[in-house]
Amino acid sequence: MNPKSATDRPIPELPASALYSSPALGRLWKKVHLACSPFLHRPAVRLLYQQPAPFLLKKLTGPYSFIALGCADGHKESLLLGKLPHPSHLLAADTNLTLARQAARLLPGLKKSSLRIDLTNLLPSCLYRIPRPRLFSLFGVLPNLDPMPLLHRISRSMKRGDMLVFSANLSPGRAGPSGALPLLAQYDNAPTRRWLKAAVRHSRSLPPKGRLEFGIFHDPRQRNLARIEARWISKGGTVVVFSSRRPTAPQVEVWIRRARLQRLSRHHDPRGEEAVWLVRKKA
Ligand SMILES: C[S@@+](CC[C@H](N)C(=O)[O-])C[C@H]1O[C@@H](n2cnc3c(N)ncnc32)[C@H](O)[C@@H]1O
Repeated sequence: MNPKSATDRPIPELPASALYSSPALGRLWKKVHLACSPFLHRPAVRLLYQQPAPFLLKKLTGPYSFIALGCADGHKESLLLGKLPHPSHLLAADTNLTLARQAARLLPGLKKSSLRIDLTNLLPSCLYRIPRPRLFSLFGVLPNLDPMPLLHRISRSMKRGDMLVFSANLSPGRAGPSGALPLLAQYDNAPTRRWLKAAVRHSRSLPPKGRLEFGIFHDPRQRNLARIEARWISKGGTVVVFSSRRPTAPQVEVWIRRARLQRLSRHHDPRGEEAVWLVRKKA
């Protein structure tokens, strides 16, 4: 464990989108996902993505649109949509357009589209033209992007009747780096190193000679939040090339309230390492 002290200067970070910025990097990420993701190796985690369905069925009484944000190939969304009536409009949106197109092919919808999106910016105006009510999904993205600004942006784009279903990777038990320590091996492994080294080579802004070091740190923007990081250490200095936030469930509940969202349901895997929330805009 290697918590960063309050006096440390912020370390430069590679944007999360850079890890998915080419079809080849998308393919390497998929290999990591296949080899390491609890979603593929633990049925209890897969179940999480169906559990909001009964709550949604009560709310979705007519046609609705589904907007899959940061969807990659759409497998998590397909589990949820398998339990719901087909949306009248399906939009798959990701920084990696190849993956978004795969998701649009996989997911059901009477009318389908895919879009390259940057979730670190304002959401594009075309989302506002999609018929309401809209069900947004945000699976596996909150760990990688600054969560509060992202939830604020999504909340601001939501109108009455819209809902958001999102997942978070959790630190079971205690807040801070010690809670996340048992999870480090999920990240520090050969397929993840291959993917991140390819992203370093692809970035051009980073010196290609260096080494990757994994550790658990305090999030620089929320000090009581644990962040698993992979850092590229080279003669030119240190850069965070990958980070995955590991909040506790109560920390996520605070984010929800701050973003002016209201919880409709919450679903935990038995180990408390991953959870899915269904929320709507606060009245
Ligand atoms: C960890 S993957 C999760 C993918 C999938 N939703 C899942 O849970 O398996 C993160 C996803 O977010 C996308 N992503 C990363 N940064 C992004 C950004 N700034 N804007 C939009 N999508 C982004 C990546 O392309 C990738 O598909």
